[in-house]
Amino acid sequence: MSSKPVVTKNGIAQMEEGSTLGPTGFRGRSAAAAGLAQRAREIIPGGAHTYAKGDDQYPERSPALLVRGLGCRVWDSDGNEFMEYGMGLRAVTLGHAFPPVLEAVSRHLPLGSNFTRPAPVEVECAEQLLSLIRGAEMVKFCKDGSLANDAAVRLARAHTGRSMVAICADHPFFSTNDWFIGTTDMPAGVPEATSRQVLKFRYGDPHSLEALFDEFPGQIACVVMEAARTDEPRPGYLAEVKALAHRNGALLVFDEMITGFRWHLRGAQHLYGVTPDLSTFGKAMANGFSVSALCGLRDIMRLGGSDHDRERVFLLSTTHGAETHQLAAAIATMQFYETHPVVETLHARGARLRQGYTQAAARHGLTGYVDLVGRDCNLLFTTKDSEKKPSQPFRTLFMQEMIRRGVIAPSFVVSYSHSEADIDRTVEAADGAFGVYAKALADGVEKYLEGRPVKPVFRKYG
Ligand SMILES: Cc1ncc(COP(=O)(O)O)c(C=O)c1O
Repeated sequence: MSSKPVVTKNGIAQMEEGSTLGPTGFRGRSAAAAGLAQRAREIIPGGAHTYAKGDDQYPERSPALLVRGLGCRVWDSDGNEFMEYGMGLRAVTLGHAFPPVLEAVSRHLPLGSNFTRPAPVEVECAEQLLSLIRGAEMVKFCKDGSLANDAAVRLARAHTGRSMVAICADHPFFSTNDWFIGTTDMPAGVPEATSRQVLKFRYGDPHSLEALFDEFPGQIACVVMEAARTDEPRPGYLAEVKALAHRNGALLVFDEMITGFRWHLRGAQHLYGVTPDLSTFGKAMANGFSVSALCGLRDIMRLGGSDHDRERVFLLSTTHGAETHQLAAAIATMQFYETHPVVETLHARGARLRQGYTQAAARHGLTGYVDLVGRDCNLLFTTKDSEKKPSQPFRTLFMQEMIRRGVIAPSFVVSYSHSEADIDRTVEAADGAFGVYAKALADGVEKYLEGRPVKPVFRKYG
């Protein structure tokens, strides 16, 4: 493992200047790392506790296990250093081992993590989130985004007395729970009756939502969607969705798991000027510590309490829901966002990456094959074959060649710890990877791909 000294610049811990990936890059797994990965597959279904981190999502020539992170850098169990993108499935927005967050956690750890009665930090964290998310009046915390969305759906169902849910078909993930998993290509174990309660509409097309309300009048409890994903909403679209939902007696739920603390400090709901009835946050709000939140209007949220005459709703109550040091991490993260230009930096770094990457792709004649899509703060890449069709083998090849050059990039989702120099190094790595990509387009991808291609997470069979 690297023993290079750590320096702090603008609150960001990073390796000393000159610590780079080096031209040699990644040479493959040691026997020990390969053995540990094999053992992981034997005792953990899928080899990882999160599908998106699994072996089948990465080229064969990639680090098996990461043991340490600092800023935007990580080290594998063989001591190889990499730059990372999309860190912690987009949860680590500030940077790994980010000092102000670690300090807050360290202050709380010796005080104990979980008591028989609530801790003041629960109130402080609620105040902090509600001060940022202006349309929300009450909040409940939990650990995972899925649980927050599950709670939103249950609350909407109880509030409206309806059972159906309309979800956006163009947004790939809302929850690990049956109501959502039953709608995917991996629905095993979910009763059909549950899946039939969930309907899909297209993003940007209010008519497809209207058609659902027409087909199932008085039956849809809520509309669940991200405010935006790769495409920006056309002006007026989100307001139209809200009006449609309300006209039909349904609630609007924005899933801000990705957009929250990335699109805008106050959420995509603020950026686009549409306040949902309920919204959910997670991922970036505690910089990798597990905190998620359901927040929204008092009249709806209070059903989870007891100061009303309606039937009570069991709303988010878990043993670990209010673990104190995690809430302290969330407060420190949100306060850092408030006092530093985090969102602006994410956009600026992404814009720089987009520019350099796009120019490099054009130099290699790869425009239309390896484009970047999405908002600057949340860049994804396309990988197309010689017929310009999306290709998993080409995705694998591109990731393989980036890893060879020291960059782990399932996406190009930047963090606050990616410096301009890091972005420029990434563009250099992409430039090298594009050279191989262009040759593979001409000669066939099999000639350059080492091992099998990656596979989508949601698939019915192995
Ligand atoms: C948009 C969105 N919603 C919900 C979730 C679920 O969050 P979690 O994995 O924390 O349960 C995710 C996770 O990737 C997500 O991207």
